[in-house]
Amino acid sequence: MTTAIGAFCSPGRETGHQRRQTIVMKFAAKIVGTGSAFPERRMTNDDVARKLTKFGLETNDEWIRERTGISERRISDVENEPELNSSLGARAAQKALEMAGRKPEDIDQIIFATCSPDTPLPSTACWLQQKIGAHRAWGMDINAACSGFIYGVVTAEQFILSGHSKTVLVIGAEVLSHFINWQDRTTSILFGDGAGAAVVEQVAAGSRQRILASYLSSDGTLSKLLFVPAGGSALEVTPERYAQNLHKIRMSGREIFKVAVRTLTECALRSLEQAHIPAVKLDWFVPHQANLRIIEAVANRIGISMDKVIVNLDRYGNTSAATIPTALDEAIRDGRIREGQTVLTDAFGSGLTAGAMVFRR
Ligand SMILES: CC(C)(COP(=O)(O)OP(=O)(O)OC[C@H]1O[C@@H](n2cnc3c(N)ncnc32)[C@H](O)[C@@H]1OP(=O)(O)O)[C@@H](O)C(=O)NCCC(=O)NCCS
Repeated sequence: MTTAIGAFCSPGRETGHQRRQTIVMKFAAKIVGTGSAFPERRMTNDDVARKLTKFGLETNDEWIRERTGISERRISDVENEPELNSSLGARAAQKALEMAGRKPEDIDQIIFATCSPDTPLPSTACWLQQKIGAHRAWGMDINAACSGFIYGVVTAEQFILSGHSKTVLVIGAEVLSHFINWQDRTTSILFGDGAGAAVVEQVAAGSRQRILASYLSSDGTLSKLLFVPAGGSALEVTPERYAQNLHKIRMSGREIFKVAVRTLTECALRSLEQAHIPAVKLDWFVPHQANLRIIEAVANRIGISMDKVIVNLDRYGNTSAATIPTALDEAIRDGRIREGQTVLTDAFGSGLTAGAMVFRR
């Protein structure tokens, strides 16, 4: 039986504006558990500065903290099975399942958001499935770079709303250190490794605690602002290209900064508008953790005070698809984000992808 009416929005390609449709819905989706995991090795700004010195480059802790807000990050030892992307994801998933009171066999679907998969084939979702023993599930990866977790949860929501799945495990995890060019001082200071997870579950459409709204966008014309040129099928890694570090991240930092502030603000305002929630009514803002100055600028534009903003980039740097689920998990576990509170998440990344989501815990 149809129990409620929900508003469902999708971005219209032609204008980037949302086409608002009202669809009769039976179900809604709710985040019922979160978890996170990090590699053991800490790399402080001083450690990064020492590493860059080997390539004749200068940086220092003060500069990195002032310009980014980052003090340290975690770096995976990928020679060590427990620190592979899928293994970090599996640890985060187990914690999220525990919080949700669910078992691996309860999972219908796994969505693994990452741009640093264990292998090109198969998906990291399948490696993770094997590790956690989610026998009944089917899994796939999503590559939306740093926006991956929000893309993943919104995708999970669609499968739940359609009635296809009841319990979806969404992972946002990265071993981006694999793609760091230590001869580039603008990118080597930013990224770190880690994993976050969320269990998203079907609830009745009228439920108070649910995903309330979302807005996704991408602008492929900006792809080259942040990309890895070689290593995909378009450009093989040859010894010459390897020597030029074409298999590592290239970034136009200043341009990304400006686009990020604009897009994050736009996505946040659109999803708040769709949820009919003014920014002042929000309990928490969990933004993508790329740069503290970007976070402050966006919070200021949206009208959210910094004491409502969850920040973990000081300790972990930019962990791409993992930033939001790890920050969310930390704030839920330490009691800041409580049941019934309203949360805005907001991300941008290579693509240039972006997305925001409002939910009530
Ligand atoms: C990369 C970033 C930290 C650089 O900070 P910035 O304030 O924009 O710095 P600029 O690029 O304008 O460079 C300022 C100066 O610092 C220097 N500099 C750059 N990196 C440095 C470093 N690690 N240490 C010391 N100096 C550095 C530059 O060479 C430049 O020197 P100059 O003025 O003599 O030419 C910043 O642009 C940023 O965070 N951009 C967004 C990137 C991002 O979020 N990417 C991930 C997207 S998901």
